Amino acid sequence: MQSKNKLRNATITAVGMYVPPKVLDNKYFEQIVDTNDEWIVTRTGIKERRVIEDGATSDLAARACEDLFKTTSVKPEEIDCIIVATVTPDMFFPATACLVQNKIGAKNAWGFDLSAACSGFLFALKTGASLIEGGTYKKVLVVGADKMSAITDYTDRNTCILFGDAASAVLLEPTENLEEGIVDQILHIDGSGKEALYMKAGGSLNPATHETVDKKMHYIYQDGKAVFKVAVKGMADVSYEIMQKNGLTGDDVAYLVPHQANLRIIDATAERMGVSKDKVMININKYGNTTAATIPMCLTEYYRAGKVKKGDNLILAAFGAGWTWGSIYLKWSME
Ligand code: UT7
Repeated sequence: MQSKNKLRNATITAVGMYVPPKVLDNKYFEQIVDTNDEWIVTRTGIKERRVIEDGATSDLAARACEDLFKTTSVKPEEIDCIIVATVTPDMFFPATACLVQNKIGAKNAWGFDLSAACSGFLFALKTGASLIEGGTYKKVLVVGADKMSAITDYTDRNTCILFGDAASAVLLEPTENLEEGIVDQILHIDGSGKEALYMKAGGSLNPATHETVDKKMHYIYQDGKAVFKVAVKGMADVSYEIMQKNGLTGDDVAYLVPHQANLRIIDATAERMGVSKDKVMININKYGNTTAATIPMCLTEYYRAGKVKKGDNLILAAFGAGWTWGSIYLKWSME
């Protein structure tokens, strides 16, 4: 829904992505934990995922930005701000955005990291859009990047089969057409979910010690069943709500662009929205859950395949650790 006093919208004018070449397929996991391809595919929809062998999150992010710059006349030095959504920053500080800025040569940019787990890209997209809507900034790079392999326990079958490494970036620029670009959003946080999906140590609550390492507290911990229940409801409700708020029916929506954590959560969301399966962007089969990167990677791949057209109504939706969740209504403006 448009706000009455808005002078401009932010819209996506370029996209890019990077996945590392090394593939871990389900057969690989059959060799290292007690699992099988059939369980993984039927319970999650994942067939393979990628892991980076030669770098950190900032490398994934910088390569995604470089891929984006190959497709636009905008130069890195024209970027005003870089927002990197990630839960796997290279270091606590400096921010990964600083490292990306340096790697891509965005010498006139400021920027920061944004931590919202699997909803990170949505939160960063809205934040970037607001910077543009305010009129101060004209070119904002929004990046979702995670090296999940850095915090994955490859002896834990409950989590290791789920995650992969990737990055993807979008460029936001202003448009005076208030019907296009980032039109509306509903975003939420609720910290009561903090113990269902988290990394137990390494922060100021439990600083790293020999004991935290011995107890494997530096890896992703997830109560899968608990997360599943709230994720299904949270993502389906918020996606339905944003459609209602903007007077959209399932027929008006060109694509649901869901966070890729589990195909069953995605199917439930599409069903609640009345959106048929052929209108749901999916890449979980190829990359697993890449946290902040899943949604922009879907946008990049479907756009490059010619499947997304100017004027298409897209509903982006995510749910993640925190809890964090939300939905964004985006009208695509690229030819
Ligand atoms: O992205 C951020 C948000 N995260 C999510 O949205 C993830 C939400 N949760 C999920 O996607 C699902 O809960 C999982 C995919 C993580 C797990 O699927 P599930 O259908 O909820 O399985 P479960 O955890 O209830 O486990 C069922 C059984 C258990 O065995 P028992 O206790 O019934 O004997 C597990 O030990 O499956 C077992 N299991 C496995 N079996 C083979 C768990 N992981 C595996 C595995 N291979 N990799």
